[in-house]
Amino acid sequence: RPPITVPSLRRMKAEGRRIVSLTCYDASFARSMEIAGIDLVLVGDSLGMVCQGHASTLAVSVDDIRYHVACVARGLATALLVADLPFQADATPERALDASTRFLQAGAAMVKLEGAGPKLDVIRFLHEREIPVCAHLGLTPQSVLRLGGYKVQGREEAAAQRLLADAHAVARAGADLLVLECVPSALASRITAELDIPTIGIGAGPGCDGQVLVMHDMLGLDSGHRRPRFVKDFLAEGGSVLGAFTAYAEAVRGGGFPGPEHGYE
Ligand code: KIV
Ligand code: NA
Repeated sequence: RPPITVPSLRRMKAEGRRIVSLTCYDASFARSMEIAGIDLVLVGDSLGMVCQGHASTLAVSVDDIRYHVACVARGLATALLVADLPFQADATPERALDASTRFLQAGAAMVKLEGAGPKLDVIRFLHEREIPVCAHLGLTPQSVLRLGGYKVQGREEAAAQRLLADAHAVARAGADLLVLECVPSALASRITAELDIPTIGIGAGPGCDGQVLVMHDMLGLDSGHRRPRFVKDFLAEGGSVLGAFTAYAEAVRGGGFPGPEHGYE
């Protein structure tokens, strides 16, 4: 297949073709994802939890992400590789530019950062310097200390309005893509309908332009954390790692995943 590019993501949204995404942390799994036709592969700072064994993502460094980006890039041929800016690597535009440059030079094609507000300047700064940006709103795991845990966001009317406004703001600032994590399905659908850029949901219902899951979760591995309701074990039905990735891709493209039971009211 032809390589997935930043413009092709927007084309997929326009044509109603779902974007299939998984997190990935090494070359062998990346190769399987490539064979399974995963569109977007994310080196997430979730690696702090699923690979490093931390209780949150806060301990992950720029060097950690860069290392895994280089590993994953060697396993990919056509999938688009996204790298997470870890905690405080996006605290200033200059720091974000330094880290993002290293990630792109290691093989990423886009960086992801959490939040809006002061991060809008960071998104704008990177966008103006030819660095594609994926925004991330809703439950932002780097906010865990302020939030006091991992909870659904945007449930109250005021919070929903704020999230909607933030979604428009990140798109205006130049974000090419938006991850929505743990937001009510109806709100995620509304944001998806109002924005030109594609949305990628995780715990955000079936109405997004694409879906992402943490690889370890969808392979049914016990991470030592409570399994959220939006997770489905695809290894159980796929029978092998490659079968799980393929089953996931087919389920997302065919509209079978996520179902209503994987979302929040
Ligand atoms: O770090 C990560 O795995 C993520 C995804 C859950 C979107 O940010
Ligand atoms: Na992340």
